[in-house]
Amino acid sequence: MKESRRDCLKQMFLSGASLLAVASSAEVEAEARAGAPSPADDPFAPTRDQRMAWWRDARFGMFMHFGLYSVPSRGEWLMAVEDIPASEYAKFANDFHPAPGSTRAWARTARDAGMKYVVLTTKHHEGFCLFDTKLTDYCATKMGPKRDIIAEYVESVRAEGLKVGFYFSLMDWRHPDGMRCAEDGAARQRFVEFVHGQVRELMTNYGKIDILWYDMAYPLDAKGFESDRLNRMVLSLQPSIVVNNRSGMPGDFDTPEQNTNPGKRDWESCMTLNDNWGYAHADHNWKSVGTVVSNLVKCSMYGGNYLLDVGPTPEGPLPDECLKRLHEVGEWMRRYGESIYGSQRSAVGYSSFGQFTQRGNTLYAHVDEWIGTEMVLAGIKARLKSARFLDNGRPVRFEQDGGRIVLKDLPPEPPYAPGPVIALEFAQPPVQDTMATRIVYKCLPDLKPPEARA
Ligand code: GLC
Repeated sequence: MKESRRDCLKQMFLSGASLLAVASSAEVEAEARAGAPSPADDPFAPTRDQRMAWWRDARFGMFMHFGLYSVPSRGEWLMAVEDIPASEYAKFANDFHPAPGSTRAWARTARDAGMKYVVLTTKHHEGFCLFDTKLTDYCATKMGPKRDIIAEYVESVRAEGLKVGFYFSLMDWRHPDGMRCAEDGAARQRFVEFVHGQVRELMTNYGKIDILWYDMAYPLDAKGFESDRLNRMVLSLQPSIVVNNRSGMPGDFDTPEQNTNPGKRDWESCMTLNDNWGYAHADHNWKSVGTVVSNLVKCSMYGGNYLLDVGPTPEGPLPDECLKRLHEVGEWMRRYGESIYGSQRSAVGYSSFGQFTQRGNTLYAHVDEWIGTEMVLAGIKARLKSARFLDNGRPVRFEQDGGRIVLKDLPPEPPYAPGPVIALEFAQPPVQDTMATRIVYKCLPDLKPPEARA
């Protein structure tokens, strides 16, 4: 635990969300966003703040990997890993029959877990499309279920009041030009036209779409895929959409994978709930609810989102182990969601007991080590007005002496696990002067105090 807190702290330094300087969280946010490319060459820049507003509030979404790979359930890369010929692989479609109503259950599960959006694979690297496409017969309306799973998904996710995201793999192992496009100019032209055509279908046939989540610009790069032209088309068809960075162009947000390392600009950590993105029947390495919550808190405190991935079974339902965990995460969110939604990069991060999310004047202390009946927060440049347990509103007694705040008369044992949250309301947005806690430099010799860096 000590180790992980140290890593967190280190990350804050490295990410530029500096605790060293006394800066307001608005300043920190503005500085973080300054990492984006200049408006002249970035079609997303002029409208980014409007388009990204809901996304920056949402903080928690559900990622879903669903396709023919769900049938053999040995991971979504098995076509490549096991070198399965395309004609053999296509036979999985005979056993791909998600029950009608499956997408409704997914959307309810996401909402119950406190998630605000869902991103589903419309087409993964295998090339099988869950949507109706005129550009190939290798799709769910012509094979397998013979239904448009994407149309069902969009309707279900909307019905639960959630935002709709489309994952789309640029890499396509099935398309005859999908791999040779790297060496053959004519193949590249055909393949790029195919990819652009499919994205156009997705952006045209399903009403308003909130997120386009590209993956794997391979074997071409952004130039080869003509990603800038593609993105401009997407924006012209869906002016409110937000787009990730995996077309090889920066888009609106970065996408660290399987880690919560913060970026300087808007970022979203995508992470599996076990070890596979798609359904994998032999993978029982499920993350605990505590780990999921802790990851969500880490993302929220660094101004990022957490996109937690699950893989439905080929019949449609999510595995029971997965449903159980998501339900418990939802219970935590009903108690403590206020500390997550709309959180900004926290300007307070250093203590001996937990991590801090922040929204305006309120700091939310996520206590991950219940160290006793008193907890101390130092270097705080704001006056504390009140402190309370977030789940039941019970006040917490405190004393403040300059930047040092002592929370007092706490129960000897944590009132709720994982991590109880204490809301601290200040007279102004709190920031932390870590000069007050300079001992940190002794623990982290690779970091130098500000005066030594100058
Ligand atoms: C990687 C994997 C892919 C997965 C994705 C999710 O790119 O290739 O299987 O869909 O990560 O971020």
